[in-house]
Amino acid sequence: MNTIVGESGYARKELDAYWTEKWVTEWLLAVPTPLSGLGYDDVIWESACGAGWISDVLLEHGFNVLSTDIKDYGYEKMQGVVDFLSIEEVDPRVRVIMTNPPYDIEGVEGVPAITAEKFVRRALEIMKPVNGQVIMLLRNEFDCANGRRDLFGGYPFSDKYVLTKRPRWIEKSKGDSGPRHNYSWFVWDWASDPQNESAFVTYLYGSTKPDGSPGDQPTPAEAVKFEKVWDGSKYVAVQT
Ligand SMILES: C[S@@+](CC[C@H](N)C(=O)[O-])C[C@H]1O[C@@H](n2cnc3c(N)ncnc32)[C@H](O)[C@@H]1O
Repeated sequence: MNTIVGESGYARKELDAYWTEKWVTEWLLAVPTPLSGLGYDDVIWESACGAGWISDVLLEHGFNVLSTDIKDYGYEKMQGVVDFLSIEEVDPRVRVIMTNPPYDIEGVEGVPAITAEKFVRRALEIMKPVNGQVIMLLRNEFDCANGRRDLFGGYPFSDKYVLTKRPRWIEKSKGDSGPRHNYSWFVWDWASDPQNESAFVTYLYGSTKPDGSPGDQPTPAEAVKFEKVWDGSKYVAVQT
């Protein structure tokens, strides 16, 4: 088994086979997003679907979902084993590529080395000709790297949805101090206004358990939302 030891001290699983807890997608779907504007025939491509935990939530919400992965983990709704890096164009019915991509994997037999950045860049290249969207679950600080400045700071980057609870990737064990990393959903939209020089931030909050700890249910009413408003010369963020 090919493993590397991550920051957490745990050996990372082969192919970064960590599944996204369902609440992570539910929280995003609880607020207005570019997904809200999808039409009847439009397809969301979960291009690294793993065991289908994101796909299933999208399907439950009525979206058309194309689910593929480079490995078959036994997800019964997976439509094909596909190396995402080998794809150069999509059917125009695919309006969105949405996934939690592999974070950083070394190449193993039949699977190329890949980073989340490479995955994002390929998704953006593929979706540009069809004016589509790219929605990725990434470490919160993904937009901090100087080397990625071309990905941020305006068109087509449109939104960052910050999860105010940390996803858990590894089963809880005794003495476990809890997940260490914050995550956000990052959205790029080739159909957004090319004049858009700013991205907008929405904070996603969840329910509170009786002991005060964060629960899994989304509470959109409490979410702090910003709206893009054109002030005559540029877009500004106005908290609503
Ligand atoms: C962090 S897991 C996420 C799985 C799923 N998206 C989820 O969130 O539950 C990353 C997934 O990327 C897949 N993967 C790695 N390299 C890939 C590639 N080149 N093309 C497609 N999928 C790949 C892995 O097999 C794994 O299922």
